[in-house]
This record gives sequence, structure tokens and C-alpha cells, in this order.
Amino acid sequence: MRMSRYFLPVLKETPREAQIVSHRYMLQAGMIKQASAGIYSWLPLGFKVLRKIENIVHEEQARAGHIAIQMPTIQSADLWRESGRYDAYGEEMLRIKDRGGREMLFTPTAEELVTDIFRAHVTSYKDLPLTLYQIQWKFRDEVRPRFGVMRGREFYMKDGYNFDLTKEDALHAYNRHLVSYLRTYERMGLQAIPMRADSGPIGGDDTHEFLVLADTGESEVFYDSEITELKFGDREIDYDDHAACQAVLEEFTSRYARTDETHDQALFDAIPEERKRTARGIEVGQIFYFGTKYSEAMGALVDDGKGGKVPVHMGSHGIGVSRLLGAIIEASHDDKGIIWPEGVTPFHCGIVNLKTGDAEADAACESLYASLSALGLEPLYDDRDERAGAKFGTMDMIGLPWRITVGPRGLKNGVVELTSRRTGESEELPPAEAVAKIAKIYEGIA
Ligand SMILES: Nc1ncnc2c1ncn2[C@@H]1O[C@H](COP(=O)(O)OP(=O)(O)O)[C@@H](O)[C@H]1O
Ligand SMILES: [Mg+2]
Repeated sequence: MRMSRYFLPVLKETPREAQIVSHRYMLQAGMIKQASAGIYSWLPLGFKVLRKIENIVHEEQARAGHIAIQMPTIQSADLWRESGRYDAYGEEMLRIKDRGGREMLFTPTAEELVTDIFRAHVTSYKDLPLTLYQIQWKFRDEVRPRFGVMRGREFYMKDGYNFDLTKEDALHAYNRHLVSYLRTYERMGLQAIPMRADSGPIGGDDTHEFLVLADTGESEVFYDSEITELKFGDREIDYDDHAACQAVLEEFTSRYARTDETHDQALFDAIPEERKRTARGIEVGQIFYFGTKYSEAMGALVDDGKGGKVPVHMGSHGIGVSRLLGAIIEASHDDKGIIWPEGVTPFHCGIVNLKTGDAEADAACESLYASLSALGLEPLYDDRDERAGAKFGTMDMIGLPWRITVGPRGLKNGVVELTSRRTGESEELPPAEAVAKIAKIYEGIA
């Protein structure tokens, strides 16, 4: 992409409505625009990152054997009456009437609809296990939408639902989700810690929330510092292997880590003093096992192979896809702007032409642009006729992790400058080497 042809409405002033850095930078970098309270339009740069995050979620769900579907945002109230949640959900649910006076709603989550799909088509234990998921817009009429995409009213969420014959199988599905979530967040450059949580209105026994540590997080968290040393990394895992998934769950949840909702001071006090941590965190996901709550209420039964019919064991598992943009920025920025992790960056590298109009500089930039593109990488080339300072300012704000700076002076010596946004360190090297270096960085990522 060439900056002169892009739509990147970077703001000069600091937006006053933004109370936290991620909200401020998303507005300043021209990623989102508020449409009404807690509801946003996604401008090109923001939309690109949203898609990158969404793709990682899809890839990791596929790896875990989960199957993508898409359910409607507008649902009939009748289904929600079957589970009893139409009345129980309260004011967070946006209720709508169609022209025939039928009661409808904008989906805040989709347990009822997915259970309806399941009961219409699956009748035998032989079709299990099954996990269906979607990435879809949700609406919750939050009392206090705030912090931009972090707590919106309309937000983009991955919601997955497992259907299993037995509790044991459903707990394996729970573990499988935990493993896939660990991989998912790490690919986005995040450490998200599974913490024992409260089950809330969905109801259920087993639930963990995934929290990213950040001072601006809405939850207070208490944990054993050993937990932050754990990494899932690129280990291979067989998602059908019950013992292997259970071992990961145990590894990542055996140390104390809870939010204020489930915090137990006595257990916390048992941790050695030097490892006790109190901090704040952003909830970026949650997994639940809730047994037969919906399958019993809605008659989602299967033949058990022994002549009987039994309600299936279920769970639901969510990732806050749009919230993740805010969480990543909270975890990765400096006073000049965003610093995108390589896994989610909207463009792989920036190219800054220090002297647009200079024949040699223009040609060198075009050549870099073509070489990077040929390797399947996406550069953002600042070809505008602007001061160098303004170009650097924009690049720093939008946070591309790598920048190549091209100017007549360097070109005389046959070099360009490659700069890391994270460390600020620069090195001079021939253009071809800069390209090779960037290609190497993105090997296995882009
Ligand atoms: N109002 C919101 N704005 C943005 N993301 C949200 C919002 N509410 C929930 N999410 C995201 O969706 C994920 C799954 O939702 P869920 O656990 O059902 O939400 P909650 O814990 O708020 O009831 C959450 O972990 C969070 O990351
Ligand atoms: Mg939650």
C-alpha cells in the first residue's frame, strides 16, 4: 500500500474522550471512529488488524478440530424463552420487534441458537464429539461502555460450543479450548493467564478467564509470579490426546491465579511472600463447562448406544476479538504510539522516503516495495511529499514493527536504514539485505 492512496485519517490532536492509552492511540492512528456510544466503525488500519486477529483465531480453532459456522445476529425471543434466559438476561439484552410484532433480539451470545441447530440434526452419540464456533458481532447494552473497543456495546467475539456424550469428554473439550487459547494469544504476542473465574449468568462449575496483565485492566488479579514464567511456545500437541491436554491444563492452572471475584485470601497467603503479586488485568477470553443446562432445557438429546437417550454435555468458550486490539496496545506501546507484535501488525514494514521526488530515492523505494511484495509481505510505503519528521511521527504512531528509511545520502553508500520500532535500534545495510532480514523475521508468521 502506498500512503498517498491509503485512507489513514491520523489525528493531530489528542482526543479528549479517551481515558486509556489504547483508546487514544486507536483514535489517533485512524483505526476506529465512534458511531455512537460503545459502537464503532472500523477504518482501514483498524479493520486490517481485526482481520489478522480473526485469522489467527480461525487457524487455531481449525488446528484444535473445531468447526466454523455463522449464526445470525438477530434471533427470535422464543428460543431464549425455552432456556429461561429471555427474562433472566435483563437490560443488557437489546430487544427488537419486527413489523409483525414478533419479539426479536440482537445476540449477546448464542447458546440457544447453537443448541437448536444441534438438536435438529444430531441424534446419535456416533456424531460426537462436536465443537461448532463462530466469529460474529454481539450486542450487550452495557451500562457504561468505555475505553473504546475494550468495553463496547457492539463487539466482535469468537464463541464456540462443544457437544459431548459424557462429562469426561466435555472436560476434554474444555481442556482443548484452554490449549488452543494459549496458542492463540501467544501468536498475538500476548501473555494471557488462565485464572479461576466466577460462572455468572451462563451458569456452570468449571470456568477460567484469560487475563492480560495491564494497569488499565478492569479486573483486580492476584497470582503467584511463577505463572508468568510459563510459555506454551511452539510445542506440538495432539488435540485428541486427553492426557496431553489435561497435562497442559494442570501446568497452567496449578499455581494460584484468580480475579477479585474468586479471590481467596487464605490460599493467596500460603504463597511465599516474594512470589505474591497483585495487579490489574484485561479479560480477553473465557471458557466454561456447564454440563446439561441447555441440552436438558431445550431437549438436545442423543442415543447413548445402550438404548437410551441422554442430554449432551456442553460448554461455551469465548474470545474477545475486538477487545484484543485494545489489550494488545495496552501491553505493547510507548509514548510515541503503538508497537504491534509481528503476528498482528497491519503492515509488515514501513518504507519512508526521506526525499520524495528525488529520482534515486524514489526508484530505491519502488524497488524495495516490489521485492517485499514479491515475497508475500505487505509494506506500507510513505510516498507523500511531507517532512521526514512527520513521516516518522506517523510510522511511530501506527506502530509497524519495522521501518526501512531511504534517503539520497545513504544511497550514495549503497545502504538504507532498518529500524526496530520496539527497541529503536537502527542498522545500515544494502537494500537487498534489509529485505532478506525482514523476510527472515516473518518466516512462519506472515
Ligand atoms: N462489552 C464488551 N466489549 C468488548 N469485548 C467484550 C465485551 N464483553 C465481553 N467481551 C469479550 O468477550 C469475551 C467473552 O465474553 P463473556 O465471557 O461472555 O463476557 P463477560 O465476562 O463480560 O460476561 C470476554 O472474555 C471479553 O474478552
Ligand atoms: Mg467473561
